[in-house]
Amino acid sequence: MNASPIVYLNGQFMPSDEAKISVLDRGFIYGDGVYEVVPVYARQTFRMPEHLRRLQNSLDGIRLANPMTAAQWGDVIGEMIARQPFENQGVYLQVTRGVAKRDHAFPVGVPPTVFMMSNPLVLPSAEQVKRGVAVVTAEDNRWLRCELKTVSLLGNVLMRQLAVDAGALETVMFRDGFLTEASASNVLAVIDGVIVAPPKDHHILPGITYDATLEFARAAGLRLEIRPVTRAETLGADELWLSSSTKEVLAITTVDGKPFAGGAPGPVFRKIWDVFQAHKPKAKVAA
Ligand code: PDD
Repeated sequence: MNASPIVYLNGQFMPSDEAKISVLDRGFIYGDGVYEVVPVYARQTFRMPEHLRRLQNSLDGIRLANPMTAAQWGDVIGEMIARQPFENQGVYLQVTRGVAKRDHAFPVGVPPTVFMMSNPLVLPSAEQVKRGVAVVTAEDNRWLRCELKTVSLLGNVLMRQLAVDAGALETVMFRDGFLTEASASNVLAVIDGVIVAPPKDHHILPGITYDATLEFARAAGLRLEIRPVTRAETLGADELWLSSSTKEVLAITTVDGKPFAGGAPGPVFRKIWDVFQAHKPKAKVAA
């Protein structure tokens, strides 16, 4: 375990301690870039085409040309996975607007910086799945382009720290009385037996796990609705779930320090968790 992990930077694989980026990189100076996290189970990517489509959307949203085709991304991601010693991975990739003299306006003729690394995919523990997890709530004060997966994550960082400070996993946010998402997860509710999800507009990141969960739920014959969800509905829901590439689906059982919905994962969660496990590439069981 003494060798530093292999990362990818601008066309080359190298040990992370040899990967160097300029202090003038616009990712560093402005947070001017976008990223993706692609989960990998037993060395197989989960929903990579969807992640690459969202990457394209984020790049379009910040007006940065995609430096690679989907096939090229697939090749580099495949090689990154093959070069790691572990089976379940979270491939992190980011594209920034490159290195240029500091000036807010886009630089001309500057190549983007492309960086990729892969970390072990740490899935929720059996305990978290069985008992559910704690969240705190806060007013969503991030910018209004939350549909873009940008590396400018300070708003999300501050939100996540509120949860950590309270001994919770996530911070569930509301904007103007409506549920948006959590600091690094989407939030789904079960209300009167129906799975209710906020619409994928500029208030939330269009989660790949959100889509997968709703797709699996539909295929399993569960009822679902996509519509704005008020704070009162959220806090009075039968069940609340978090979804993300690293959390899969988790039940929320504590909200702001108080037991939520009986303090245990509900029946619809148990069903969807089973369905999710059945659909994902065959994975090692989490400890
Ligand atoms: N976060 N909303 C936000 C703000 C997120 O950062 C994420 C993912 C999600 C869920 O998206 P997906 O299901 O595609 O992972 C929703 C990743 C995992 C991260 O930043 O590490």
